[in-house]
Amino acid sequence: MELPFAESWKIKMVESIRKSTRKEREQWIKEAYYNVFQLKAEHVYIDLLTDSGTNAMSDRQWAGMMIGDESYAGATSFFKMKEMINEITGFEYVLPTHQGRAAENVLFSCLVKEGDYIPGNSHFDTTKGHIESRKAFAVDCTVDEAKNTQLEVPFKGNVDPDKLDKFLSEKADKVPFIIITITNNTAGGQPVSMENLRQVKKIADKYKKPVLFDSARFAENAYFIKIREKGYENKTIKEICREMFTYADGMTMSAKKDAVVNMGGFIATNIQDWYDCAKVYSIVYEGFITYGGMNGRDMNALAIGLDENTEFENLETRIKQVQYLAQRLDEFNIPYQRPAGGHAIFIDAPKVLTHVPKEEFPAQTLTIELYLEAGIRGCEIGYLLADRDPITRQNRFGGNDFLRLAIPRRVYTNNHMDVIAVALKNVFDRREQITRGVKIAWEADIMRHFTVKLERL
Ligand code: F0G
Repeated sequence: MELPFAESWKIKMVESIRKSTRKEREQWIKEAYYNVFQLKAEHVYIDLLTDSGTNAMSDRQWAGMMIGDESYAGATSFFKMKEMINEITGFEYVLPTHQGRAAENVLFSCLVKEGDYIPGNSHFDTTKGHIESRKAFAVDCTVDEAKNTQLEVPFKGNVDPDKLDKFLSEKADKVPFIIITITNNTAGGQPVSMENLRQVKKIADKYKKPVLFDSARFAENAYFIKIREKGYENKTIKEICREMFTYADGMTMSAKKDAVVNMGGFIATNIQDWYDCAKVYSIVYEGFITYGGMNGRDMNALAIGLDENTEFENLETRIKQVQYLAQRLDEFNIPYQRPAGGHAIFIDAPKVLTHVPKEEFPAQTLTIELYLEAGIRGCEIGYLLADRDPITRQNRFGGNDFLRLAIPRRVYTNNHMDVIAVALKNVFDRREQITRGVKIAWEADIMRHFTVKLERL
């Protein structure tokens, strides 16, 4: 008999988590204005708010923490990190930042001007925020397949080459660079194929535009290329990463995801002009160029995390857990973005809460229901997060409306996945009774979902 699959690690340290009663949760979510970002973490049983910075580090990473070099300038920790990034990405210049959005802030301060357009696949919200706050525009050229959650295609995160080419043929003079997010978080943690990266690079070359990767989950993207794309089955994850990055001129990285650390990020590039400009903003916003908002110990952990998480077994363990949750949801016919993505399951909320009108935010409503059901905190990646159009101020209901269940790396077991699946089933079973959603009582101008105050209807 073939042996079953099991994790590629064992557990050395644990943290207690606590259940609560429905009555307690009713009170807590009300006090949080029905916004899960405003909940206290101790009031959460299973926390799927994000896979960002919520990972469990390995014993090797913790060992690295103990020998961090905390020198202000030229710390050995910086050089260890830089060497690892050079090796994995092929990018020569490296600037640490305290997290991914800081990398965006530093680099976009150099690259993005008022009136610019930045085409790419679905921009993450902070990326869009850093573009729109500079009075520029994020242009979403994701393949149309991404919108149909029930369509099973292997690389739903792809850029549509025709959309990109058409846009560049009209507006190339206003485009400073093209951005590709790997994996495509907003579309459901969906990967981008090597072929697509190659196509985008070709189009970029035609218009003489640089390509930037938003690389938060690049290792998970490489895993999917190995598993799903012809010609890559016998390549190592590190070889695949190296090839992926040959189709980019630079990257911003939130190390809180695929470098399996709790805080950190960086910019890496081969364009010296970008580096020279970004250095200055790095000093202004982040810190000196060899620490950029990070501790020496954190840079050590980041280097080791990158090394470990570009190994097949670690990624396989992680992504198979996400797929396990998907299989459990299949048993209950709960609709989600298919196939399961790398870091999360994205529940197609309007297909669950069919009686809740879009103006009442179905995915946010489902997020609240799941919390009330079992103390499980997911988050909305949908109409609330899409914000209002910066010019017309209209809500943007055009995209998908997801409840995202993001799975932290190496934190929960498949028993927890079972609890999540059954809790969702219980909500799903009473979906016909859920007919009203929420309305906005207060919102910020941009990135409103973090602080929005809601009322239940
Ligand atoms: N790019 C992508 C694709 C992301 O998913 C994130 C963060 C960022 C950039 C920004 O990085 O948080 O380190 O500043 N995503 C988290 C999430 C917050 O929950 O998906 P950061």
